[in-house]
Amino acid sequence: MERLNKFLAQAGVASRRQAESLIRAGHVKVNGAVIIEMGVQIDPQNDLVEVDGRVIKEQAQYEYIILHKPPGYLSTVRDPFQRPTVIDLLPNPKSRLYPVGRLDLDTSGLLFFTNDGVLALALTHPRHLVEKVYQVKVSGIPTDSELQALSQGILLDDGWTAPAKSAIDRIENGNAIIRVTLREGRKRQVKRMMLAIGHRVLALQRIAMGPLTLGDLKPGEWRCPSESELKQLLKLKEKSANLSSK
Ligand code: URA
Repeated sequence: MERLNKFLAQAGVASRRQAESLIRAGHVKVNGAVIIEMGVQIDPQNDLVEVDGRVIKEQAQYEYIILHKPPGYLSTVRDPFQRPTVIDLLPNPKSRLYPVGRLDLDTSGLLFFTNDGVLALALTHPRHLVEKVYQVKVSGIPTDSELQALSQGILLDDGWTAPAKSAIDRIENGNAIIRVTLREGRKRQVKRMMLAIGHRVLALQRIAMGPLTLGDLKPGEWRCPSESELKQLLKLKEKSANLSSK
């Protein structure tokens, strides 16, 4: 037997606290009856649990994978035109994994997959300010004042960007390789920000997201998070669950 809110949290529906709110608000049924009291125990093998009519299956275990996405793969689970997707590069997972955030078709680098919906939200929701670090090759060499503009915020067609850290790593054949750190994840954000300061992106790679780093994974390779990365991910999830319950 297991507490209903713990079952919902482990199934990736919500954090334990959020699950309590869902129960209190009458969204959860057990064997067809709405349950609003706290502390109800269920038998995950035999009881039918629904949240807003959706049947919740017991999640044996969460899975986590870090992939080095090569350019040319779509960051979607399925493509109607049968083009290669990042899912083609994963080992055969026991449960469905989803990419946390997306990278453009021509972008490479760190893509994280999990079946833990609460963790995915903690990593992507703008309020949690998780850092994403990119290595960006641009045309030409940005001036100090152009890079300063990035740190002050850039007006894009969907509004001002939050301040971004940036620093030139090296110069190759007259083009700069820059390290850019964002705490947002809008569509084509790095490319649009660079264009706004007058430099086209020639190559883009994500090298870190929150506690996760690409390390020396080769394009197309994957690995599981280390113990220490996993610990930090779970801490982040806990922190985000506390923030959402305030
Ligand atoms: N910014 C972009 O422009 N593209 C990506 O794929 C990721 C961040």
